[in-house]
Amino acid sequence: MSRKPVSIALSLLAALGAAMANRCGATSSMHALAAGDGYVPVAPLESLVRSIRLNLKVAGDWLNEGDFESAADTIERTKLLIDFCDLRSSEESWQRRIGELRSQCQQLVDESKKKDADASSTRLKEIAKTLDAVASTPPPVDARSVAEYEPKVPVRSFMKLLDSCYADAKSAKSIADLQAMVYAIAETTNAAQFLRTDDIWRERAGDVRQAALRVAALKPDTDLKVARAELKNVYERCQACHKTFRK
Ligand code: HEC
Repeated sequence: MSRKPVSIALSLLAALGAAMANRCGATSSMHALAAGDGYVPVAPLESLVRSIRLNLKVAGDWLNEGDFESAADTIERTKLLIDFCDLRSSEESWQRRIGELRSQCQQLVDESKKKDADASSTRLKEIAKTLDAVASTPPPVDARSVAEYEPKVPVRSFMKLLDSCYADAKSAKSIADLQAMVYAIAETTNAAQFLRTDDIWRERAGDVRQAALRVAALKPDTDLKVARAELKNVYERCQACHKTFRK
C-alpha cells in the first residue's frame, strides 16, 4: 500500500478530532452532533472501497447461486456506501466516476430483478473495473464533505446496510476484512446522524460510530477471535438506539 491512504486517514482523524473538540465544549454528551455541525467522513476511502468490493463479491456469489433477489438487495445496500464515497469531494472527475459507478449498480439491480444472468455477471465485472478506477484516483477531501448532508434514503435502508455490515464483520476471515466492515458501520452511523435532528438520535448514532472506530483501530495483527469479541460492544450500542427508537 502507498502511504497516501494512511495520510488521508490521519487527516480525517484530525478533522474528526477537531470536530469532536468543538462538539464536546460544555455539553454533557461526548458524541452528540450540535445543530449546524456538518458531515465529516470518518472512514479512510480505501476501507470503504474494500467494503464495497466485499459486497460485490457477495453479490457475485448470489448470482452464481441463481438468487437474483439477494444479489439485487446486496447491490442496493452497496449504493449507500457509494454515496459516502460521493460525499468526499466535489471534484469533477471524481463525481463523474462515482456517477458511473452508481448508474452501473442501478443497471445491475434492474438486470438482477429481470433474472438476466449473463447481463448481471458482465455488469458486475464492469462495476469492479470502475471501482478500481475510483480507488486509484482518490481526490482530496474538500469543503463539500463538511456541508450539511441530507440523506436521500429512509432509516430502513441504513439499517439494512448496518445489519449486513455487522454480519459480514462477524464472519470475516481476516482482520483487514473485519475492519473494512466496521469502518463501513462507522461511516454509515456517522451519516445516519443526519437522518434526524434530535440530540438523543445523534448521540446514539455517534455511540455506534465510536464503538466501531475503536474496533477499526485495533492493530492489524490482532487475533481474529479478539476482534470478533470486540464487535459485541458495537452491537450493544445498536441495541441502545433500538431501545429508544424502535417501536
Ligand atoms: C440512531 C439509532 C439507531 C442506531 C444507532 C441503529 N439503529 Fe437499527 N434501527 C433503528 C430504527 C429507528 C429502526 C426501525 C426502522 C424502521 O422500521 O423504519 C431500526 C431497525 C433496524 C433493523 C430492522 C430493519 C428492517 O428491515 O425492518 C435492523 C436489522 C437494524 N436496525 C440493525 C442495526 C444494527 C446492526 C445497528 C448497529 C450496527 C443499528 N441497527 C443501529 C435505529 C437505529
